[in-house]
Amino acid sequence: MSNVFKTRSLNVIEDFSINERRYFFKKVNELKNAIIENDVAKMDEFRINDPDFGIYEVFLEDSTRTKESFRNAANFHHTKVSELLSSSSSFNKGESYADTFNMLAGYQNSVFIVRSKVEGVTKWLSEETEEYAERNALPYRPAFINAGDGKHEHPTQELLDEFTFLEDNNMSFDSIHVALVGDLYHGRTVHSKADGLKLFDKVKVDLIAPEELAMPDSYVKKMKENGFEVRMFGSIEEYVKDNDIAKMWYFTRPQLERMGEKVLAKQATLRETITFRKEFLEALPEGTKFYHPLPRHKDHPTIPTWLDKTSLNGWERQAINGLYCRIVLISLISGKVGDDYIPVEADKKLEVEEEYIIEVEPSNTDKHRTYSEGIRPIENGIVIDHICKGDSPSEIRNHMRLISSVLAFDEGKGGEWVSKSQRDGLYKGIIFRPEARELGRKDLKRLAVVAPNATLNIVKNGKVEKKYRTHMPPRIYNFDDLSCQNDACISHPSNGEGVPAKFYRTPDGHYACAYCGKFHSFKEIWKKY
Ligand code: CP
Repeated sequence: MSNVFKTRSLNVIEDFSINERRYFFKKVNELKNAIIENDVAKMDEFRINDPDFGIYEVFLEDSTRTKESFRNAANFHHTKVSELLSSSSSFNKGESYADTFNMLAGYQNSVFIVRSKVEGVTKWLSEETEEYAERNALPYRPAFINAGDGKHEHPTQELLDEFTFLEDNNMSFDSIHVALVGDLYHGRTVHSKADGLKLFDKVKVDLIAPEELAMPDSYVKKMKENGFEVRMFGSIEEYVKDNDIAKMWYFTRPQLERMGEKVLAKQATLRETITFRKEFLEALPEGTKFYHPLPRHKDHPTIPTWLDKTSLNGWERQAINGLYCRIVLISLISGKVGDDYIPVEADKKLEVEEEYIIEVEPSNTDKHRTYSEGIRPIENGIVIDHICKGDSPSEIRNHMRLISSVLAFDEGKGGEWVSKSQRDGLYKGIIFRPEARELGRKDLKRLAVVAPNATLNIVKNGKVEKKYRTHMPPRIYNFDDLSCQNDACISHPSNGEGVPAKFYRTPDGHYACAYCGKFHSFKEIWKKY
């Protein structure tokens, strides 16, 4: 059986399925015990032991734990370990990420560990270097590990957090009740939990943060879609009055480096709401543990240092577990471990294939309906109906302008209007184009993307000859005029990396950027938006 982990990249925690993560934690447990018991033979089962196996660290943002635990993990493996010093690299001459990493891949390096403030960078690089490796007949396919990308994700931190939770949960996947406390807005480690905690069969999450630092809606939505019970509190003070307090508290520090000026100005007041105080101790259930991805601020720690020597301290073991988790992750990606993993059906990421423009039989009313262009009925042409039904007239007008531009209708004859349904009182938009050019397959996809849930009527000789209904396609790419709206995303035009935008439809009818995960409505994915 082939090793499914070999050469795999880890860009987001979902890149490893739940079953794969459960296997991973079993291996981490084995390695941890072997190291504690100094069982060298067992440790050797994990060791790559190849001085030509290249592991490259590229940290474009500061780090101690992630960078050093990976470096120590690479040393455990007796491999080649390199580090790119970005401050003296050709990044400063305007070199792109793709050119830089392709080059490093060519120098016999198989695993890249990358931290950057640019979101989705490892996802893009794993796609790019795969093509480079093929073009240059490299004997390996480079794998990428996201060591933290902006506000997006920190999947290896998620692995070590989950492992530590598991240890304190008797290695049971049955259920978990965890409080996430702190800067839930800017903190990437808590964003990874929206999918990471799916590891457990039953999940209850308490989100504790003031409004300015609250978990973004898209992650809350994702948690709920994943079946988590989610509750929200504005401060620890409010939370400790509740009668169902979690035994696991996961703190994060205020991410000052990612805050805007407005929030920074309020940092002292905000910090107060998420910092633990002595008076809260008595509210804690027996056996409570605190965790923290660290670092904590030396002047303003949200977990005060007087708690270090108490039984609440779970964060020190958590940080040490980082080394074990990262050793095993490299073992898996190198192919040293993982041969005995038995894949399950749920590991497969299914690419949904769906028709997004469906022909419907024109009703009798349709067949005899005439659409007027001014005062005259349209003889031949197209009519797009039911546009943005339920929106306000001004929103509908704005969007019809976008549709006309996206479908290059700007120059044609015809017009747009907004009408109010007599049946339900809702507004909808209608675009009519007499003598319009015939729409090809690509136009139809663009129409479905920019005007989902509309109808396209093909009018011939004054009658509706064909009628189609549009639906949101499951994925969109290969259109030059798309853009993610997150300026921290690798695919945002302002980053100048030339990464074409790509989106996936979410269960709640949004489009998530394939790189940074940002949710967009169908109106927001266009450069012209
Ligand atoms: N937890 C974590 O990512 O720490 P560093 O920033 O020190 O790597």
